[in-house]
Amino acid sequence: MNPSLRRHQRDWEDLGDLDPCWAILAYPERRFGRWDLGEFFRSGDVEIGRLAADIQRLGYPVRRERALDFGCGVGRVTRALAPHFRHCYGVDVSAPMIAAARKLNTAFSTCEFVLNGHPDLRMFPRGQFDLIYSVLVLQHLLTRAAIAAYVSDFVRVLAPGGLLVCQIPSHIPLRRRLQPRRRLYGILRGFGVPPRVLYNRLGLFPMRMTSMPEPDVRALLIAAGARVLEARADAMASTAIESRTYYVTKPSDAL
Ligand SMILES: C[S@@+](CC[C@H](N)C(=O)[O-])C[C@H]1O[C@@H](n2cnc3c(N)ncnc32)[C@H](O)[C@@H]1O
Repeated sequence: MNPSLRRHQRDWEDLGDLDPCWAILAYPERRFGRWDLGEFFRSGDVEIGRLAADIQRLGYPVRRERALDFGCGVGRVTRALAPHFRHCYGVDVSAPMIAAARKLNTAFSTCEFVLNGHPDLRMFPRGQFDLIYSVLVLQHLLTRAAIAAYVSDFVRVLAPGGLLVCQIPSHIPLRRRLQPRRRLYGILRGFGVPPRVLYNRLGLFPMRMTSMPEPDVRALLIAAGARVLEARADAMASTAIESRTYYVTKPSDAL
């Protein structure tokens, strides 16, 4: 594994150990284990309820066999997809997140949770998934090149007539890009200060934010053989961060 991906993985292993639900939905009042699990998982049902309406309106995916929730965390969305697809895969870079997903979702027998430490989706063959869904994930990658590598591979593993839904910030203002808490976390962690001390006592956490402008995302998707159905400004637009959710399909001649 390349060193920067290993470092990124370590950050998400720490977050998965320290406060997994808050690391997923980072509402200040839910920090330090204050998410009610029922409420947390209901938020996934609401989100997938909206997606079901989008699927109806867009007419994609044409089949409902396999869904991929990329960056699944503890399976908040994966389990909500279960009633809609025959088999749902949750993939994540963080072993503690995958362990928690398996433990919390034993009732969802058609959901499978898989650890992936690669900078792409090489573990899956081409054209595997009718739906690929990824929100609140690509924004945390280290570089635009890392985002581009996963997005291109999403298109490879998407089935013709499938639907890819992915959220990527389009612009992050400078003051949000400085991320002093993350930088200090990395420095002190490097000196051997335990993650729990950094998080609980010093209020530091290793969460990064990266953006990619909409024209670059569109160009990337088209180059990979996809067709962009919609790019919608999403809820993060209410903060200083501008973000888009892309609704994308793959024409049947793009095999
Ligand atoms: C903010 S959480 C969102 C979780 C989930 N998408 C949800 O909305 O409930 C981000 C998740 O992405 C995972 N992640 C970060 N980088 C990843 C990568 N390169 N590959 C797979 N998962 C990744 C993290 O471990 C974490 O579980």
